Amino acid sequence: MKVLILFAHPAIAASRVQRHLYKAAQQVKDVTLHNLYQLYPDFDIDIKAEQALLAVHDVIIWQHPWYWYSAPPIVKQWQDLVLEHGWAYGSMGKQLLGKWAMNVITTGGPQTAYTVGGHNRYTIQQFLIPFEQTTRLCNMQYLPPFVIHGTHKMSEADISICALQYQEFLLGLSAGRFTLDELQACSYSNDLVPIPNSIQNT
Ligand SMILES: Cc1cc2nc3c(=O)[nH]c(=O)nc-3n(C[C@H](O)[C@H](O)[C@H](O)COP(=O)(O)O)c2cc1C
Repeated sequence: MKVLILFAHPAIAASRVQRHLYKAAQQVKDVTLHNLYQLYPDFDIDIKAEQALLAVHDVIIWQHPWYWYSAPPIVKQWQDLVLEHGWAYGSMGKQLLGKWAMNVITTGGPQTAYTVGGHNRYTIQQFLIPFEQTTRLCNMQYLPPFVIHGTHKMSEADISICALQYQEFLLGLSAGRFTLDELQACSYSNDLVPIPNSIQNT
């Protein structure tokens, strides 16, 4: 499986967690890292280049910090411009047919806050419904998100372990180690590469 990571962090120099995930991903063969804010600081996205990149990958990952219950704005700009009618969706738009897509997210809030009775009132999967439905409209299979919750309280050691867990996940994905059924049966893709309870930020 060829994996494309569309990385979107507007302030990578100030990042505590995403920059470690980025470095971990850099070391995985068959993963293409595509840094949207670095490539398009003026949001002037090259639609044809992005579509050509999508065409040669099997799995599309939006990797980003969680900002106001969604992604940083360049992700929306990317979707608005790249997922064109007649290319990505519509009766003639089948270029993404059968590809897999997912979000890889870090959230300040802990996992317990992302529950129906919790501080944020909705689960992360509920907040992600616009991504899920966008990918479905574009004939793709949406996978459960890989989420690192509770970043505000994570130690450097916790961050390193989560980065290794993410790397393991990417290795499994690119090696075809996970089936679609197996992935879609999870709430979080993290569940396929468990880490010890002691660092689970719940
Ligand atoms: C503008 C902004 C909005 C944020 N909104 C949320 C939010 O809605 N929910 C949440 O749990 N954390 C929120 N956070 C916290 C970030 O998700 C968290 O700091 C980030 O994922 C950590 O990754 P980083 O160290 O790579 O930046 C927000 C942070 C910023 C700067």
